[in-house]
Formats: sequence, C-alpha cells, structure tokens
Amino acid sequence: MLKGKSIVVTGAGGGIGRAIALVAAAEGACVVVNDIGAALDGSGSDEGPAHRVAAEIHQAGGQAVADTSSVSEADGAEAMVAAAIKAFGRIDGVVNNAGVLRDGFFHKMPAEHLDQVLKVHLYGSFNVSRAAAPHFKEQGSGAFVHMTSTSGLIGNLAQANYSAAKLGVVGLSKSIALDMQKFGVRSNCIAPFAWSRMISSIKAETDDQKERVARLKQMTPDKVATMVAYLLSDAAREVNGQIFSVRNNEIFLFSQPRPIRSVHRGEGWTVSDIAEHAIPALKADFYPLEVSADIFSWDPV
Ligand SMILES: NC(=O)c1ccc[n+]([C@@H]2O[C@H](COP(=O)([O-])OP(=O)(O)OC[C@H]3O[C@@H](n4cnc5c(N)ncnc54)[C@H](O)[C@@H]3O)[C@@H](O)[C@H]2O)c1
Repeated sequence: MLKGKSIVVTGAGGGIGRAIALVAAAEGACVVVNDIGAALDGSGSDEGPAHRVAAEIHQAGGQAVADTSSVSEADGAEAMVAAAIKAFGRIDGVVNNAGVLRDGFFHKMPAEHLDQVLKVHLYGSFNVSRAAAPHFKEQGSGAFVHMTSTSGLIGNLAQANYSAAKLGVVGLSKSIALDMQKFGVRSNCIAPFAWSRMISSIKAETDDQKERVARLKQMTPDKVATMVAYLLSDAAREVNGQIFSVRNNEIFLFSQPRPIRSVHRGEGWTVSDIAEHAIPALKADFYPLEVSADIFSWDPV
C-alpha cells in the first residue's frame, strides 16, 4: 500500500514508532527512522535505537536510513526531511510520534516540565511538518499523521503539560488539513493505546493485576501502526482533518467540539441572569470531570 513512498517516522527507535517504521517498510515505503534515543523523561540520548530499527528493516529486505536529530529543534527537523530527500529522492509522509512524559500534579509542576513536553510533542510536530510542507505543496501530495492522546482529548490526572501538548497537536493537525487541502495534502491524528515503556509501569503484583497486564499487552504497537500505514496511503485520499483512536482490535473515530446547547436573551445578560437562567439551562449538558479510563472503562479484548 506504500510502494514508492518515502516516509519520516519520528521517535521510531522503540514502542509505537518502531512498529510504524516496520509496518510502513513492509508495505513498501522507504523509511527515515528518526529517534534521539532519550529516556522516557527526555533525558540523555543514544544513537543505538534508530540504527537498530533501520537495520531490522534492511534485514527484512526493506529500505531505511537512521536519523538521530531532535524533533524539538527546527534544524533537526530540516535534517530529517533532507535525509529523506537525499536517500530516497522525495518525501511523501510524516509521522509525528516522538514523545516524552514529565508527569506531576499541576500545583507542583515546574515551568521547565511544560517547556520540555511542549518542545517535543507540539513544537516537534510543528517543526517536522513545517520542514516537509514546502515539498508537499510543490508535488501536490503528502500525508501527515500525528500522535495525540486521550489525556488531551478526554483528560488525565497529573498530565497538564502532556494534555496541553496533545490537544495542541489536534489543533495543529486541523489547521494543516485546512491550509493544505488545496495542495492535496492530508493531516490526521491518532490517539493510540499500546503496550510500550510509556505505560509499562502499571503494577503486576497480584494475580488480578497480572491478568490485567496480560490483557493490556495484547494492545501491541503494530495494531496502531497498521492504521498509521493506511492513513499514509493513497487509499486514505478522502480522509482529512480527523481524529482516530486504536485500542487493541478496535478503531474509533472521535468527535470534535461543536456547540451543543445555547441560551439567548434579547436584552442581553446580567451577572445574576447568567446565574439564574443561563447556567441552569446549560447545566443539563455539562461534561463530568472524567478521565480517559472512565470512558475506556473496559479492558481490551
Ligand atoms: N503507549 C501509549 O499507550 C500511548 C498513549 C497515548 C499516546 N501515546 C503517544 O504515542 C507516541 C509514541 O509513544 P510510545 O508509547 O511508543 O513511547 P516511547 O517512549 O516508547 O517512544 C517515544 C520515542 O520518542 C523518542 N524521542 C523522545 N524525544 C525525542 C526527540 N526530541 N526527538 C526525536 N525522538 C525523540 C524516544 O527516544 C522514544 O524512542 C508518543 O507521542 C506518545 O505520547 C502513546
């Protein structure tokens, strides 16, 4: 499905990104395997993971080059796109998957942890997309796939920085879809669920916990990767500006915010009118303060 296409996958040295790179290559794509090789909290760097995944692709008979630049830097993003052009002569797709976590309750979160998470997820997605955009415009085609999260779409405790970044990615994707539709360029998001180091800290001590972890392990990264490969392919030519989720063998389409109820008063509102009339009328449709696990309340089967 991706024969002849050249794809940059960020954060592809492990987890979901590695699976995306392998599936894309198996579908015939030439892949730039980008990864800085950082720890989960963004610290350190290691050239090993990107090179190992590129080697795995070669061993399977595919085409790949490794790149170890950081998505957080505009220069790094330019280098990734340049690597695709140099190795494969073109660029057809960008998967913004690189990610880090700096969890902590909001009232204790240092500004540096916001900065660091925004830099990788939001600036990273902007930087790599922006570097590819002129090529996509010129050739009249291209596909972006960005990893968002139900932490942003629904909510999660102790992830203010991550939620803000991931909802920012949704706005970025929609804006790219709107601005570049006329050049045949598409941009979609996926909120993945996959067993990776990002969620592998879940406890597995009691028998019940062990059983649950065994069920969660069924959510293998390749199930997300298959959907990404589809969105990169020409078969998805009519899919643009959407938000999907993949969780084990289920694929979800997410809603996007629209007004759901309104109140109007010809003479305008006073503060007490709002308290007495507007809010009681709107309250029936208030959203409860739910977290992702309240909505995805069943284990994957
Ligand atoms: N695993 C899940 O269930 C889940 C849920 C929601 C969202 N996500 C999102 O999916 C994506 C992949 O997550 P994962 O679970 O595979 O995590 P992961 O930690 O296994 O992979 C992330 C990769 O990004 C790389 N990276 C970090 N900073 C980078 C930088 N500046 N430049 C280039 N690479 C960098 C890391 O080295 C790592 O290999 C992330 O965007 C994450 O937020 C994952």
